[in-house]
Amino acid sequence: MKFPDNFLWGAATSSHQVEGDNKNNDWWDWESHGKTKDPSKKACDQYNLFKNDFKLAGDLNHNAHRFSLEWSRIEPEEGIFDKEALRHYKEVIKGLRGLNIEPIVTLNHFTLPLWFYKRGGWTAKGSDRLFAAFVEKAVRELGEEVKYWITLNEPIIYIFSSYIDGTWPPGERSFKKAPSVFLNLLKAHCLAYNAIHKIYSENKWSPPKVSISKHILVFTPCRKTSVLDTLTTSMRYYYFNTLFIRSLIHGWCLAPGAPIVRLPRKKSLDFIGLNYYTRDFVHYAGIVPPKIFGDVCTHIHHEDTGKRNFLKWEIYPQGIYSVLKEYSAYRLPILITENGICTNDDTERADFIKSHLREVARALADGVDVFGYLYWSLIDNFEWAHGYGPRFGLIEVDYATQRRSIKPSARVYSDIIKRNSV
Ligand code: GAL
Repeated sequence: MKFPDNFLWGAATSSHQVEGDNKNNDWWDWESHGKTKDPSKKACDQYNLFKNDFKLAGDLNHNAHRFSLEWSRIEPEEGIFDKEALRHYKEVIKGLRGLNIEPIVTLNHFTLPLWFYKRGGWTAKGSDRLFAAFVEKAVRELGEEVKYWITLNEPIIYIFSSYIDGTWPPGERSFKKAPSVFLNLLKAHCLAYNAIHKIYSENKWSPPKVSISKHILVFTPCRKTSVLDTLTTSMRYYYFNTLFIRSLIHGWCLAPGAPIVRLPRKKSLDFIGLNYYTRDFVHYAGIVPPKIFGDVCTHIHHEDTGKRNFLKWEIYPQGIYSVLKEYSAYRLPILITENGICTNDDTERADFIKSHLREVARALADGVDVFGYLYWSLIDNFEWAHGYGPRFGLIEVDYATQRRSIKPSARVYSDIIKRNSV
């Protein structure tokens, strides 16, 4: 099964999960209150070791790499931009370009500068404009060498974890705040989208490609014969998979200062960034929020593949085919910005990559416009609330010594890239 020429092949990371010592953001604060299994501390020290890690990616034939800018480093205080941090990210981009690796740059991968967090984070009025100001600065400084931008990573996962089930900072369980965060994120993306395009056209750089990374799950009712399970699954599906992306596709963006600006169709996304990991079996759990979205079955469902990763997520390769088919309805090119497995058994990782890529190839054969695949993650890293237990990396990290070791699955992936077929 062949992939198109110029297909983007690589892996993804995010600043807080790999850089280390990101002391000036909400997660560092959250970790210091003992809210995660481990604190991130030095993480993979990639802030210092990026050249080494990129070299390994290049040796493994990667031609693309997704990473994120750490907003709290670039803008440590409101309106104050750190030259050294900007210089660093310029080096990072230059380093990738020097290895013929296409940089795919995320502007916000969950973490928030403390000053922004203390003002109420994404609940605050004007948070969209504060984000847009950061984006403008970063893109003016770094844009010349970048074609692909991801404004926000997984907005719905962020809202759910931070404002509905409260396991991420600020740990709220507020059905009142969640909708305002939703709107602010939507506006933030649209402002950023417009700003990025404007900067590129002012500078006469070739037009950029801008999107978000949207986490998509496959949802199945636990009991297909139960009307309540089916309705709950549809609610969950609409909230998790559809609402945000549809709002962007239809241009339901609110401009600063109010009147609703209906951006022309498709003009707030140039492609769709898609993150896929697993399938959930959902059952009815009540109607009071957040129970209205149901709960995930704890017992093993008879349709379950029986294969689970380290975090007990089902391994369901066919799911990537169905989400690709489903999202192709939006008629935009798709980049798989994350797909991966945490496991201590590396043969499972090799099987995961092969089985998922076969499904991607099947979608391509059906005419779905997929232009790249980024495995999560290049290296083992800090997995948010779960700390350092789950290992997603193609490359192992010894956190005590910062030694990197290439796992056999990385070679399997590298061969697939070389052959451009699976
Ligand atoms: C995604 C997230 C990543 C990483 C991955 C593995 O939802 O964007 O930061 O944690 O999941 O769980």
